[in-house]
Amino acid sequence: MNCVPQDCLRAFGMLCFAQMVMSMVIPNSTHLEAILDKYTDKDDEWWTSKHRGKRAITDGDMHLILDLHNKLRGQVYPQASNMEYMVWDAELERSSEHWAHSCLWEHGPQHMLTQIGQNLGAHWGRDRPPTFHVQAWYDEVRDYSYPYPQECNPHCPFRCSGPVCTHYTQMVWATSSRIGCAINVCYNMNVWGMIWTKAVYLVCNYSPPGNWWGHAPYKHGRPCSACPPSYGGGCKDNLCYAENGVERRPAPELEETNYIEPEPQPEPRSRTQPLTALSSDNVERNEVVSTVQMCQQMDCETKLRDRCKGTTCNRYECPPGCLSSPGKVIGSGYYDMQSSVCGAGLHAGIIDNDGGWLDITRQGRKPHFSKSYKNGIQSLGMNRSANAFKVFSVPVKAVTCETTVAQFCPFKTPVRHCPRLYCPRNCLHETRARVIGTQYYFDKSSICRAAIHAGVIQNHSGGYLDVQPVDKRREYTGSHQNTISSESLQNPSGGKAFRVFAVI
Ligand SMILES: *[C@@H]1O[C@H](CO)[C@@H](O)[C@H](O)[C@H]1NC(C)=O
Ligand SMILES: *[C@@H]1O[C@H](CO)[C@@H](O)[C@H](O)[C@H]1NC(C)=O
Ligand SMILES: *[C@@H]1O[C@H](CO)[C@@H](O)[C@H](O)[C@H]1NC(C)=O
Repeated sequence: MNCVPQDCLRAFGMLCFAQMVMSMVIPNSTHLEAILDKYTDKDDEWWTSKHRGKRAITDGDMHLILDLHNKLRGQVYPQASNMEYMVWDAELERSSEHWAHSCLWEHGPQHMLTQIGQNLGAHWGRDRPPTFHVQAWYDEVRDYSYPYPQECNPHCPFRCSGPVCTHYTQMVWATSSRIGCAINVCYNMNVWGMIWTKAVYLVCNYSPPGNWWGHAPYKHGRPCSACPPSYGGGCKDNLCYAENGVERRPAPELEETNYIEPEPQPEPRSRTQPLTALSSDNVERNEVVSTVQMCQQMDCETKLRDRCKGTTCNRYECPPGCLSSPGKVIGSGYYDMQSSVCGAGLHAGIIDNDGGWLDITRQGRKPHFSKSYKNGIQSLGMNRSANAFKVFSVPVKAVTCETTVAQFCPFKTPVRHCPRLYCPRNCLHETRARVIGTQYYFDKSSICRAAIHAGVIQNHSGGYLDVQPVDKRREYTGSHQNTISSESLQNPSGGKAFRVFAVI
């Protein structure tokens, strides 16, 4: 990337150096059903024919995944002038296999992440062909408008909530011409705090990696009009294509000699939160425990800009002792995104040196930031306009088993916080209080019962939880979890949604 830092700041308002973004997806169940229709006849065949030999994936799956990639790459809109034909790479397949065997729901291994792109998918329940994940990645295209990948990236300061499209952009990254994937069945896999007794884990590695910040995935123009010279002018189905493949330059990190074997994994259960009821029959009883927190743990010096990812980025926990290393704080009352969150919390008097929780609200752009000395922190001034945030304390409210988000803290834009809530015990008895949805709940659902359903609190103890009101959804899927059967709902005429998170 050839630009000077100032240009980058002007153009993107963020990191100058290219930075990769990787992605994970769990297709939602309605989505799965839709995709599944296309592959129904392949279902059993896929599962029973799953190769048990050396390969991490069957030839059939390999071709399905590769062909789907090339088909989709050839059909991007607007048209691509430099999209390269994708080929299967055995080294990438092997690295994917290593990672699929880790059963870790995160990108890795760490030492390879700068050398490869990676898309992950996981599902449980009914057996599915791997291609539905690929299709789900591709379907993010609906949230993407060429050429700005950052537009649909839930990354500060542009969007701290919203759709993700980095799976899609990796798939159609013009120069990512090699792919290798693997599938593994993982037992008791911890997926964002939820324990899946039997998960099917798909890992696809790409090379060269895509998703560089500030770069479009491909050049727009007449197909094949901007192919690299190594293709010798070859073109096939809108893709730069060479009959015998282009000269391969395997990434040295992928060579056997350099490859570091992942450490043997500990028993999967030991990585998870202690479970009281993870037994062999938990599939039937459908016990779900969720330890996903909305709140993010911060270091004293972490800047808001660097930490803000995903939709859960507005509530933070600061460690004790930040007065001695508060990081840089820019502004007073409202702070520049480059400020340390905990430092700003100290300066604003929201937390003290014992640390604690705080809420952040984005303020849009402010023309300048004033310096001041408060609560033991000297903040800096800045005359340049920049995105700002404010710091608030986290209120806690007790609710009843019947309280709904619609009554208590309905979704509104700009997004605001719902207080932290405390649910009483024994909400299982309030059977009249409805629960609608799974993971995303309709806002006329009982908050506390939804939290039991989601495995965020338990009936016998009640407890604290965080609620995140979110915009309406077209569809809510019912399920039976933790002895609560939630309802399905299609196309409600009004009402928004919410999610519940553990407080640990
Ligand atoms: C699931 O996918 C369907 C079909 O694409 C979509 O309409 C719906 O909004 C999605 N729901 C969730 C919970 O993401
Ligand atoms: C900011 O601008 C004001 C007014 O233009 C000026 O007086 C002040 O010195 C500037 N501060 C800095 C830090 O540049
Ligand atoms: C729910 O919790 C209450 C209070 O702890 C307890 O008395 C009741 O038996 C529990 N109900 C179920 C179905 O576990």
